[in-house]
Amino acid sequence: MNLLNLETPCLVLDRGKMEKNISSLHARMKALGVNLRPHGKTAKNIDVIQIAIAGQSGGITVSTLKEAEYYFGHGIKDIVYAVGIAPVKLDHIANLMKQGAAITVLLDSVEQVRFVAAKGVEYGLSIPALIELDCDGHRSGVPLGDSLLMEIGRLAHDEDGVELAGVLTHAGASYQCKSIEEIRAVAETERYVAATSAGVLRQNGLPCPIVSVGSTPTAWFAEDLTGVTEVRAGVFVFQDLVMAGLAVCDVDDIAISVLTSVIGHQKKKGWVITDGGWMALSRDRGTAAQKVDQGYGLVCNVEGQSLQNLIVASTNQEHGIIADRGGNEVDWNSFEIGSAVRILPNHACGTGAMYDKYYVTDGSTEITDVWSRVNGW
Ligand SMILES: Cc1ncc(COP(=O)(O)O)c(C=O)c1O
Repeated sequence: MNLLNLETPCLVLDRGKMEKNISSLHARMKALGVNLRPHGKTAKNIDVIQIAIAGQSGGITVSTLKEAEYYFGHGIKDIVYAVGIAPVKLDHIANLMKQGAAITVLLDSVEQVRFVAAKGVEYGLSIPALIELDCDGHRSGVPLGDSLLMEIGRLAHDEDGVELAGVLTHAGASYQCKSIEEIRAVAETERYVAATSAGVLRQNGLPCPIVSVGSTPTAWFAEDLTGVTEVRAGVFVFQDLVMAGLAVCDVDDIAISVLTSVIGHQKKKGWVITDGGWMALSRDRGTAAQKVDQGYGLVCNVEGQSLQNLIVASTNQEHGIIADRGGNEVDWNSFEIGSAVRILPNHACGTGAMYDKYYVTDGSTEITDVWSRVNGW
């Protein structure tokens, strides 16, 4: 099979680039003496995650219970479900635990402790729970210094059916940083909030074995992880244009791309029309606020070499409009009608979610494997 014969749009994964991204973060974690708990929400695929957990303790993070069930079905037991827990999900979790999965839930309220504990008692389980901390006002968690930490901690420790496993925070604000120095500072705040909160629990006689931090930018640029037991990151396996804009990677490190067909020319407007619209690329515009706005994605030739001046400037559902970002004339000979181009994504998770499989390449246009994805909930 060759990329040139595939029906478009479809998702292409360059295995060599992915392996390099993973080994780069492994080396950074090793230097800092911390375990990596990869987030399975980016790849949603066991082949990628098996490479990402190699040499680590084997635990993963997930964002849906469908992922949890899928990865558990492929032999991964230690799973952190890193979205605040809702009561309607606990039967599903308890059933997976009854089959041998070790699923840790996330909470930042007394109400959640109570319903997790009740479900644990109902099933004869002790459900491990991490207290979510807010390190940057991003969206959720207990802020540093709030008495709620001890309130939740004490209740989770005392109640049957639930077990206090530690603390977790995610520096989502790292995506808005404007420099590497800023990301380093956000990473240090993420570490400090987690380690300090763990200290508060321990000083008050409560257990806190897990101190979990992470996002791809902070994982990449953290300089010190004292007091942290594990780092979570997902996007790093593929990288994307948002990460390139944050200097986490180069554009040429991005391992996934969308293969599209050229279906028309609008020469007076300087547009190449493709069949890769927002259903193929996602509506993510994560680079819009960055120094270089990559539109809906950066254009590459079919071999995967990026054409720096050409972006998908706008999209409709099934149409992508490629234009030169400086308004220069397009080299029409490079975009013959019926030919294929590849588009690098703004956000690997969002673009990946549009597809049920990866066409895996070895860097050439030859396809070496087809790997499935577990989408949905
Ligand atoms: C709780 C949590 N942990 C870890 C991550 C991984 O971060 P990234 O997507 O930057 O790799 C995310 C991403 O949204 C998250 O929500």
